[in-house]
Amino acid sequence: MKLKNLNLQKLYYLQDLYDIAYSSDSNSVKIRKVKNYLKNNRGFSTVLINNLLEMVYLCLDDKNWTVLYINKACKSLTGYKESELAFNSILSYEDIIYPEDKNHVREKVLNGIKKNKKYSLSYRIVTKSGKVKWVYEIGQSVATLKNGLHLLEGYITDITHIKNLSEALNVEKEQLKKTNFLINLILEKLPIGIATNRISDGKVLFINKAFSKIYGWPTDELIDIETFFNKVYPEKDYREKIKKMVLEGIASKNPAKMRWNDIRITKKNGTIGYVNAVNIPVYTQDLMVSTVIDFTDQHNYIKKITDLFDQTIKLMANLVEIKDPYTYNHQSKVSKLSIAIAKEMGLPDEKVKAIKYASLIHDIGKINIPPSILNKPGELSYIESKLLETHPENSYKIVKDIAFPWPIKEIILQHHERIDGSGYPKGIKNNEILLEAKIIAVADVIEAMASHRPYRPTLGIEKALEEISKNSGKLYDEKVCSICMKLFKKRNFIL
Ligand SMILES: [Fe+2]
Repeated sequence: MKLKNLNLQKLYYLQDLYDIAYSSDSNSVKIRKVKNYLKNNRGFSTVLINNLLEMVYLCLDDKNWTVLYINKACKSLTGYKESELAFNSILSYEDIIYPEDKNHVREKVLNGIKKNKKYSLSYRIVTKSGKVKWVYEIGQSVATLKNGLHLLEGYITDITHIKNLSEALNVEKEQLKKTNFLINLILEKLPIGIATNRISDGKVLFINKAFSKIYGWPTDELIDIETFFNKVYPEKDYREKIKKMVLEGIASKNPAKMRWNDIRITKKNGTIGYVNAVNIPVYTQDLMVSTVIDFTDQHNYIKKITDLFDQTIKLMANLVEIKDPYTYNHQSKVSKLSIAIAKEMGLPDEKVKAIKYASLIHDIGKINIPPSILNKPGELSYIESKLLETHPENSYKIVKDIAFPWPIKEIILQHHERIDGSGYPKGIKNNEILLEAKIIAVADVIEAMASHRPYRPTLGIEKALEEISKNSGKLYDEKVCSICMKLFKKRNFIL
């Protein structure tokens, strides 16, 4: 078979090789024939070398590295023709080596010759057009001439693009190193605790110093989430409650459900602390980032303020009860029942708090009523009754300038209002009355009827329940009445 379209003279060698490759000879015979062919046809080697993309050279290791042979790739690599470099006709190869790299190149080559080993190195050259290129060279000494000079052969290839890429990568690597260093520094110095763990198996991957300090456990003891829960929340019930809350938060994928405030924790030394925690899931990377701040000081401060506030309210309640010993403890009992009703109704914590504080001081206005009326053993005259009925407004006036975070003054003003408008001081009805006031109204009636009064002995709890049952939906809120009944009848509530 003859190859088609092989017009170029220099490629006639390929035809010979093609004929050997497709002959009927065995492979071992073909290999032997090719070897003989190459040995006997130096022209083939010349064609092959001349067409290589790398610059191939044969030179002497004399002062100027006299070039004996150089292939065509010389032009594309250096911009100079072979004839300009061969026998150093116009310039030597050394002339095109980047000045600062010359010593390095000579040193490497001489070292290779000395050790009788191949030398390989990279350095810069300056092309005919003045462009700087990075090259990679591999060479060796192939013979020592009579005058002691070595015959060197090798090839040189352009690696500028690789070098540029590598430099760009190095810059990026350095930048990344700096960024990582900075991130680690920040993570370690931050007063916020930060930890990461795998969502799938809970394994803890990173914990910064602040995280360990805030939770009060050494980093190496918090190896996974299970261990963390067991150590930080030693009480089983509380642990299960926190775990459920956290797992539900994660499952919801709702960021608002992944922040928890004022969580009680137990440190390794047994002391109690409080934290605010926020979890940030990165589902695509199976990662959970947990951040935490120490809330212990704030928790203790808030507790002190709350205790002080409670004591102040109690003091206000005591002021009126000291003046009216027959109603001693009336307000605290009304408060106890009001809170129970509110909780049984499932009202939010803030509403329960409003009811608690309003009920504790709902009768504070009685401080302005003469003891002779408050403690009168018999029935009150019309005037006396009207005077007594001013106490909700008096209560309102006493507390109106206190900036409660709840509508305390409105609640106590309305605690004698009735659903049908028959109450006082304003005779408002139904939805005009706050739910908190409706609750206190029912608790107030129950407590008043069930307790001893100057003008009558106790009527008993049954009579009191009968009263709210009879007037449910008329004087008192229906729902509040039914919850109150349920507390006494089914929950065994005791005043
Ligand atoms: Fe009252």
